[in-house]
Amino acid sequence: MTTGHESAGKCNYDPFDLSSPHKKWKAFRAESPVFYHEETDYWVVTKHEDVKQVFDDWNTFSSDNAQAPMRPMCAQGKQIMKDGGFTAYSGLSARVPPDHTRIRKIVQTAFGPRRFKAIEPKIEDIIDRSLAAVKSKAEIDFFQEIAYPVPALVLFTLMGIPDGDVPKVKDWATSRAALTWGNLSDEEQLPHAHKMVEYWSYCRDLVAARRQQPGDDLPSDLLQAQFDGGEITDEEIAGVMYSVLFAGHETTTTLMTNALKVLMENRETWDEICADPSKIKNATEEVLRYAPSIVSWRRRAKTDTRIGFVDVPENANILMIMGSANRDEDLFKDGETFDIQRENARNHLSFGYGVHFCPGFQLAKMEFGIMLRELTKRFPNMTLKDGSAVEYVRNISFRVPNRLDIKLGTPA
Ligand code: HEM
Repeated sequence: MTTGHESAGKCNYDPFDLSSPHKKWKAFRAESPVFYHEETDYWVVTKHEDVKQVFDDWNTFSSDNAQAPMRPMCAQGKQIMKDGGFTAYSGLSARVPPDHTRIRKIVQTAFGPRRFKAIEPKIEDIIDRSLAAVKSKAEIDFFQEIAYPVPALVLFTLMGIPDGDVPKVKDWATSRAALTWGNLSDEEQLPHAHKMVEYWSYCRDLVAARRQQPGDDLPSDLLQAQFDGGEITDEEIAGVMYSVLFAGHETTTTLMTNALKVLMENRETWDEICADPSKIKNATEEVLRYAPSIVSWRRRAKTDTRIGFVDVPENANILMIMGSANRDEDLFKDGETFDIQRENARNHLSFGYGVHFCPGFQLAKMEFGIMLRELTKRFPNMTLKDGSAVEYVRNISFRVPNRLDIKLGTPA
């Protein structure tokens, strides 16, 4: 047994810097798999078995800090939000049982394969149009021109929202990520506080509009579930919208961009998939394992407890590093190697685990699979543009590249 404090001084670790974290994470797994990080006041957990244990044990580890700003909102920002009528609480991820159980049960009915399958042709159409629009270009920023708009257009179809609102909601989502998982100064927080007010009021208006005129979409499904006796308030439905309008596209945008980068860097794998699209399924799991969109997630210990061999006190904030757990050599042989033949790739923790397991996983995989199928079919000769550098947005959880310059090559 150790206290976990021994390693804290020597690690000189900046968890907000996600530019190239893997070497450090590997060293943590070997030398101090669970340790206390004083600057953030978080206990960092890096091994697969330990991360899975924390996710799985919701009784000991509460998710009530999952959406807490890493740097608390300043007084002026709080006032802006209060004056603007901002009352949003997490839709699901920071809720705990029994509320979480009650709301999740209702959301799950609206998130079933039926709804996702029904929008598959629309997803194909959105991807077809976006790839056709760049076909004649020699090079593109894949992040900006394809991966950024496509998942939002898909999600908006699911939510019944006009395409014209995409830039606005994408912008709010960026603000939400910066406020919650970033490390902004008081001054930097203020414009984002205004945007959160707009975002929340948009979610509430959406629910009110669907109450007036139901559509074939998710908010209408949730209102119907409420009408049928499901215990969920309008405010909670707006909260689910507030969550999904963020969680449902940012992550998929990142997955597409990270995937293309990894596949371009592993040319023989790209050629393999181009030659045999049946490999896309396992390639998807391996990309999720190797380059997850969300590299860390948070919990709080409700009592004194132990993670691995380390005692952790009551109220300890826990930072689970899934990006590290996914490469843990105890489970994944040669975990630092990208290998689409890997048989156990799907044991990654990129969608979480347990009662909060991502309900959008089928949609994300379906969307990503179609994108990969179409890219390999249409642009088998694409390459990374020489000398283009990728920078990662500074924050603790979302490993988001800021661009990806691609030369499309001769189309098929
Ligand atoms: C590559 C894409 C995605 C990734 C990597 C991802 C990852 C995650 C992770 C790590 C969690 C936390 C799980 C936990 O605490 O155990 C989560 C929760 C959630 N995700 Fe996703 N997600 C993705 C796509 C989506 C999509 C497309 C949607 C909606 C359409 C969605 C909706 C949600 C919601 C509502 C939650 C909260 C669930 C709960 O707390 O019960 N996600 N996701």
